[in-house]
Amino acid sequence: MPFENIDARIADPATYQDPAACQALFAHLRATDPVRWTAPQGYRPFWLVTRHADVRDVESRPDIFLNGPRIVLRPIAVEEALAAQQAGRKDLIRSMNAMDGDEHRKVRGLTSRQFMLPPVRQMAPKIDAIAREFVQRLIDKGPETDFFQEVAVWYPLRVVMLLLGVPAADEALMLKLTREIFEQRPDTDKAQQGQARLGFFDYFGALLADRRQTPRDDLASAIANATIDGQPLPEFESLSYCLTVATAGHDTTSATISGGLLALMTHPEQMQRLRDNPALIDSAVDEMIRWVAPVKHFFRTAAVDTQIAGTTIKAGDSVMISFPSPGFDEAVFDAPTEFRIDRTPNPHLALGSGPHACLGQHLARLEIKQFFLALFDRIDTIALNGTPTYSPSNFISGLSSLPVRFTVK
Ligand code: HEM
Repeated sequence: MPFENIDARIADPATYQDPAACQALFAHLRATDPVRWTAPQGYRPFWLVTRHADVRDVESRPDIFLNGPRIVLRPIAVEEALAAQQAGRKDLIRSMNAMDGDEHRKVRGLTSRQFMLPPVRQMAPKIDAIAREFVQRLIDKGPETDFFQEVAVWYPLRVVMLLLGVPAADEALMLKLTREIFEQRPDTDKAQQGQARLGFFDYFGALLADRRQTPRDDLASAIANATIDGQPLPEFESLSYCLTVATAGHDTTSATISGGLLALMTHPEQMQRLRDNPALIDSAVDEMIRWVAPVKHFFRTAAVDTQIAGTTIKAGDSVMISFPSPGFDEAVFDAPTEFRIDRTPNPHLALGSGPHACLGQHLARLEIKQFFLALFDRIDTIALNGTPTYSPSNFISGLSSLPVRFTVK
């Protein structure tokens, strides 16, 4: 039976290592149980919402479906270990995606100007230069290399660290720390996770102190000197802000660039169309985001008794919203299992919607676009050179290796 043990499969990080099987499971749920009571062993139960219309509905009612207090799916044992480690606090950080209402609006507003389209567009020449540097790195490693490990991990990291104001020399340390914090290995040592967060906080504590003394034109300076209602943003929230941007802006974009390249290599006619017609790059980027949808879920918590598509949800119930599933909803997309670089419109929800919609979406799109333009400027042919592997995570998951073979123009 293809759809046995659905609850366990939804929770199991390994499920997300097989994107096609995962989408088949979501298709089954959209058709048979679109608002599913899901109770995997070892986890607090929740409603899983998979249809496009229902995910939009939940995200458009932020007063009813709160972002706090439950954020992501963790085993009860991990939630308890975290709570014990940090005086009752169940989360490692206090970030905007755990906030609601006015608090969320004010905290998000501290940097939302920097993430708007016009300032992001001004970053294009710098991002283009970084993209070209990493394409050169690929060429230097070639003609056979692991695209994910050599390029896709590092390029978005450099962009997000540039935004924050972290020097390139400290990128390896940032990668190590953020990975240790968010890794979902079964044997992940919680004490080590806590240590990694402290290491990150030490680093950014020093950076923020420096930017209070000498502000620069970077996000760390904006965060370091931010005030809300005339009061400075507390240190824990400021450090959490840095960690949120560093992590939200990294794995997601790495996964989309590598997953997007894999999709092009496995759909060579689409790759050729893009190369023949670079004007299709913008729609191609959104199709890559829909296809990869690296953020697998976030939670909402019902503030009052309510309904989703006729199903009664009790106050206090957890609701898991799926971000990959709506992009493959047959009710909205024509031939959703086809990868089409000219898909327009493309109303996928892989970047979320409503007041919590991805803050970095313009930056993400620009980064992906500049990368592929730079790649096709230099590379003549590129093809899969082995079996790709995926990282196990029910939260943010994508490729962990992508062997490629290429020739240079
Ligand atoms: C292709 C790449 C990316 C994808 C697929 C992605 C996806 C998402 C998703 C699904 C959410 C939750 C939306 C919701 O709850 O409705 C989110 C939130 C967020 N993203 Fe992204 N993201 C990407 C890149 C980035 C980048 C580059 C940055 C910043 C440098 C960023 C910063 C954030 C922040 C700060 C939030 C929290 C927003 C809030 O709660 O108000 N993301 N992203």
